[in-house]
Amino acid sequence: MNKAAIKFVKASKKFNGTKDYAVSEVSVSIEEGSFITILGTSGSGKTTLLKMINRIYEASSGEILFFGESIKKLPVEKLRVKIGYVIQQIGLFPHMNVEENIATVPKILHWNKQKISERVEELLNIVNLPPDTFRKRYPRQLSGGQQQRVGLARAMAADPEIMLMDEPFGAIDAITRQNLQDELLKIQKKLNKTIVFVTHDVNEAFKLGDKVIVMNKGKIEQFDTPYNILFTPANNFVARLVTSDDTLQRLKFLRAEQAIIPIELPINNQAIRVGREESLYNVLTTLLFNDGKTIIVEDDNHNVLGQIDWKQLQLKFGQENQEIKEKTGDNCDKISV
Ligand SMILES: Nc1ncnc2c1ncn2[C@@H]1O[C@H](COP(=O)(O)OP(=O)(O)O)[C@@H](O)[C@H]1O
Ligand SMILES: [Mg+2]
Repeated sequence: MNKAAIKFVKASKKFNGTKDYAVSEVSVSIEEGSFITILGTSGSGKTTLLKMINRIYEASSGEILFFGESIKKLPVEKLRVKIGYVIQQIGLFPHMNVEENIATVPKILHWNKQKISERVEELLNIVNLPPDTFRKRYPRQLSGGQQQRVGLARAMAADPEIMLMDEPFGAIDAITRQNLQDELLKIQKKLNKTIVFVTHDVNEAFKLGDKVIVMNKGKIEQFDTPYNILFTPANNFVARLVTSDDTLQRLKFLRAEQAIIPIELPINNQAIRVGREESLYNVLTTLLFNDGKTIIVEDDNHNVLGQIDWKQLQLKFGQENQEIKEKTGDNCDKISV
């Protein structure tokens, strides 16, 4: 297991003048290099939990460790330089062009001009904004999606150890949003950053997260892979939150690697092979069109990770339907987020 980039130990936050805790005794460990999504309804404490990490909000009690060290022991400015932060409202400086916006933190760190310029070029390429076209533009000359890309580049400028993202694509149209999600996944794979990403969109949480934290009323209801959250919800709340009229659609956002079981030896050389990131929807379709033969799941270097077979998915489907019926009752409304 990788070491913990962030660890909450019974951390709570209560705002002055409020009755309830916004975040209540949360204990969770976030592994270095993982992409964690935080999913929950409005007011469940997602933003508060995130802001406790970079000390925009100080915990009322409990502790938060950043690579093993209590964040209270680090000067706030030092901590924040190590943490990239992207929010929905973007927050680009309107009077600064793209280059100047991205250079904000490197300037604070007194990088020289040459190094800053090279870094801006590199980042604009990473977020898919050709530098020659975009370097000198002002935020008002950019679309919402382009502004959000610049926001992402700015947050990554000084190569932070972790990235916090609070509904960063919330205000962006569906198509652009999908592109940004795909690119963020590619960036994370390439740079292997620890990302904590808040969303109230179940599909977005499933698509992006290696694991998902489900929050409700300041507490964590479940912390698990999207596959386990969908098929083995911890309780009534989680079941209702992730239930969809169309479970097949949800499978588009789950990855093959989350569903594998140990391989049955010997491996059939004729077996169809799919990559670890193939959607479960495609895996299911492939099973349908190949008489339900076992599918082998492999990593990027074609090493076998495990297998998926018809029976196993069938069992899960049966189990899920049963569990959701039991947990929600047939007349129960789904939770809308
Ligand atoms: N600055 C604040 N002062 C007082 N109460 C707050 C403040 N920020 C958030 N809250 C309350 O804390 C709870 C959690 O809020 P928040 O973390 O913003 O939820 P989410 O991001 O999941 O929508 C809510 O009840 C909210 O009203
Ligand atoms: Mg919020």
